[in-house]
Amino acid sequence: MRRKLLLGNWKMNKTISEAKAFAKEAKELGKEARAHKIDMGVCVPYLCLESVKKILKSSLIVASQNVHYLEKGAYTGEISIPMLKEINIGYCLLGHSERREYDNETSEKCNLKMKALFANNMIPIYCCGESLETFNEGKTKAFVKEQIVTGLKDISAEDVKKLVIAYEPIWSIGTGKNASKEIAEDICKFIRKVLRELYDTKTANKVRILYGGSVKPENIREYLSQKNVDGALVGGASLDINSYRQLLVNIE
Ligand code: 13P
Repeated sequence: MRRKLLLGNWKMNKTISEAKAFAKEAKELGKEARAHKIDMGVCVPYLCLESVKKILKSSLIVASQNVHYLEKGAYTGEISIPMLKEINIGYCLLGHSERREYDNETSEKCNLKMKALFANNMIPIYCCGESLETFNEGKTKAFVKEQIVTGLKDISAEDVKKLVIAYEPIWSIGTGKNASKEIAEDICKFIRKVLRELYDTKTANKVRILYGGSVKPENIREYLSQKNVDGALVGGASLDINSYRQLLVNIE
């Protein structure tokens, strides 16, 4: 059985002091989540990683929102895997649509990062998802398949089993226009089919696939009750501690 995973993505929100205040309140949630056999975590800005990790330790997952694929060098403004490892960060988001749109994060680049993360025993959370235009043209599956095939090129079955994939249709992010649970299930099921074709059934069944896009405490349960939706990646509704807690409470 795949364990459910609930991840908040703070994006470019919270100063260090705001992040610490949140982490102090969130610490207790780890126990609650474990009691319900749910993994829970937050993807926080680089600057907050160390202080949030120090407070949360292993009670919640603390993930980076990006990383460079090289160990070091002349890449101004970038952060490397050894820098993350030194502060015990074990997870990293890759290919979020905002990074794809504003920072030229391609699936090819995500593939390089994914290889580097796995080589360092870290877990990538690989985001995929189509624009409204692609959705309206009925080309979602072809688009998402391409992102998966390119992002996972030359990744071994052993590594893929540990991967987390997040399906986030761009038209549902921050818009309040969430995809229906049927759409979320249909695409997550399709992603699993692609994984079966690339690897095998056993491997595909191990991969956790999340839905993201306007997930709120009021609608989280309908997504997580779908067979192929193993959790949620939540932006806006993860920023406030009460709403973040309510996401967990409302899963059950
Ligand atoms: P919202 O939950 O704010 O729509 O954001 C979704 C998202 O992009 C999470 O990565």
